Amino acid sequence: MGEYKVDSAKLEKLGSYIESLEYGEGELINILREAQEIFGYLPSDVQLFVARKLGIPAAKVYGVATFYSYFTMEPRGQHIISVCLGTACFVKGADKIVEEFRKQLNIKEGTTSEDGMYTIDSIRCVGACGLAPVVIVDGKVHGRVKPDDVAAIIKEIGSEAQGQQMLVKQNAQ
Ligand code: FES
Repeated sequence: MGEYKVDSAKLEKLGSYIESLEYGEGELINILREAQEIFGYLPSDVQLFVARKLGIPAAKVYGVATFYSYFTMEPRGQHIISVCLGTACFVKGADKIVEEFRKQLNIKEGTTSEDGMYTIDSIRCVGACGLAPVVIVDGKVHGRVKPDDVAAIIKEIGSEAQGQQMLVKQNAQ
């Protein structure tokens, strides 16, 4: 597996998963979902590995990976900040919220901060238009967010992450 520039243990895990499936190519979406679960995203080497394992063209794997917004080719941060850019949220200034997050997290290019901590995502209407603009951070919904609230939200992510680390340490003792 040395020809692939990704973790070989993870690749082996993915390989066994593919071998355990009955329908091969027919399960391509499930395979990519599992691959993203294992690697956190879908690097091109992983796509190539899947294509070879199934005996199908790499372009086909790439086509499926790019078609579904669930899949990502970029590494994702530990914390996912999803800003709704649906009409109601956009009208209420969601683009300014995105801008403020980018500024405060110093994300100049792409969607993930350099330290790999944060990814900013845009999502479509989540059905909470009454709370527009809506931001979902690691699954927690924040409504009627203003650019001035962004610093407090980032601080909250930091303190929750610290709390979780302490919990892990305590459990390990
Ligand atoms: S448009 Fe954002 S929740 Fe509906």
